[in-house]
Amino acid sequence: MSQHTAPLPPIAPAPVPASAPSAPTATELLDFVRRTAADRELIASLPLDPEGRTWVRLDGPGGSEAWLIGWPPGTGTGWHDHAESQGAFATARGTLTENALAVRLPASGWKTLELADGVDRSRRLGEGTGRAFGRHHVHEVLNESPDTHAVSVHAYYPPLPLIRRFSRTGAVLRLEQVERPEDWQ
Ligand SMILES: [Fe+2]
Repeated sequence: MSQHTAPLPPIAPAPVPASAPSAPTATELLDFVRRTAADRELIASLPLDPEGRTWVRLDGPGGSEAWLIGWPPGTGTGWHDHAESQGAFATARGTLTENALAVRLPASGWKTLELADGVDRSRRLGEGTGRAFGRHHVHEVLNESPDTHAVSVHAYYPPLPLIRRFSRTGAVLRLEQVERPEDWQ
């Protein structure tokens, strides 16, 4: 018994308009923040202020929004998310702590939420270490060092449409504020 297989028709590549934006993947964002964090000259160019965080906007890959951020000892972001944006960040100097929630928060229609047991995650990101995160990631980033200024590189795609800020008391998370890009100018 013999079988004949019809030759497969040629597969035409999907047409890609020259101007089509190519959304960066999480891996590309992570590669970018790691590579940028290793750029000693750029990292050294960030002005550092012992009184508060400092930041410089960078061009991220594929139209992403990127930042270089300086963290004096004891500073942090507070709890927040980045809505529909995915992102990545890497520590260029010092050590940062990320506390995160392994939970998907409802998009709207709530003011306070009681978190279930076991949703807390914590990691320390030393110099040269980075991580990527998906949409709706809820976290806070802190420099817990008593004496060392930290510097990190962050990238988000799509560029941040908004940040939701939360306060937390024990297991209770409260939505405090929704910030939009015009608030950051
Ligand atoms: Fe964040």
